[in-house]
Amino acid sequence: RTLNWNPIMVEKQGFKHFMLKEIYEQPGVVRTGIETYIDAAWSLENNGTSPIRLGLAPDLLQGLEHIQIVACGTSWHASLVGKHLLEQLANIPTMVQYASEFRYSPSPLMPNTLTIGVTQSGETADTLAALEMEQSRRSQQPDPQFQARMLGITNRAESSLARMVPHIIDTHAGIEIGVAATKTFTAQVMAFYFLALELAYIRKTLSSERIHAIVEEMRQLPAQIELVLESQERYIEELAHDFAETQDFIFLGRGINFPIALEGALKLKEISYIHAEGYPAGEMKHGPIALLDAKVPVVAIAMPGSVYEKVLSNAQEAKARDAQLIGVVPLNDAEAEDTFDSLLPVPKVDELLSPILTVIPLQLLAYHIAARRGLDVDQPRNLAKSVTVE
Ligand code: G6P
Repeated sequence: RTLNWNPIMVEKQGFKHFMLKEIYEQPGVVRTGIETYIDAAWSLENNGTSPIRLGLAPDLLQGLEHIQIVACGTSWHASLVGKHLLEQLANIPTMVQYASEFRYSPSPLMPNTLTIGVTQSGETADTLAALEMEQSRRSQQPDPQFQARMLGITNRAESSLARMVPHIIDTHAGIEIGVAATKTFTAQVMAFYFLALELAYIRKTLSSERIHAIVEEMRQLPAQIELVLESQERYIEELAHDFAETQDFIFLGRGINFPIALEGALKLKEISYIHAEGYPAGEMKHGPIALLDAKVPVVAIAMPGSVYEKVLSNAQEAKARDAQLIGVVPLNDAEAEDTFDSLLPVPKVDELLSPILTVIPLQLLAYHIAARRGLDVDQPRNLAKSVTVE
């Protein structure tokens, strides 16, 4: 008897591609983040300390007035989600910049500002250069707080980034092999929940009850991701058949799910080579709506919360232009069922936690369209896992 497995397949644990394996690792990644960074003994009755255990120097986060984040690619999208969390939960004005822009066009240096570099590999040349530039201009300031207020979020605790900045949050996602980032994105978003909750605790911007409610909902996320994976992969694989020849896609989202629209579009571009644009749904009328016809499908993320009705009405505008509508929507939602042609349902959760769930069907959609097109999902043309030159 010969064995049908080769060593690469063993590493892939039966999955056809590393990317699919890594998509399926996300429940575990979220669970590890929670176990690592949330104090299991913390409760509403026992809330004299923060529930978050980031192990950062105590003065790093005290008295902050601004946060500035630099990143590239998928890490930049995670940072945009992070901006929402830091602003909504901890009330800190937060800017997110592309590292490749920031390094040549930095914003003015401000006191009491935390600069965060987000890079899963910890080796991206633009991100490292942006941080180096930031470090050097900070070192010229007489006040020592300028040097200390730098933080890295990375999946590689031994990387160049980790050696460069005084503090890091390790995202503990395990090595990611697929060039298109999936589980490391989820892990970065989790890192931002932990950081935003820690800051909310320090700054007293949330009640203990609200912090407790968010933490409790976070604990449900791994099972909810599992449910999305189990209930939808087959359907998405079938849906992908319809789009294997499609040339353009539009992804729409608003608020905290706008970055997820960007990420859904990026996944599709990276591995299927289909042109895709992510847009904030309310901006569609200022240009992209001119692109729409029956040949351009629209994927809209419409989750309950502050912009739910708005996104539905933006989707209806697209439908009126004959676009085929795919909705990432809450489970069992009649209004969504009436609006969309195809549904990618995810469990209803607090709006701020929803990106962790809404990104999953978009990763699967990109994966299955690329696989259907017979492309090299793990090694897409022209791309590198980590871009270590400018
Ligand atoms: C490359 C990869 C992307 C990644 C980006 C930033 O372009 O192909 O998947 O998002 O680099 O990588 P980093 O390691 O800095 O997060």
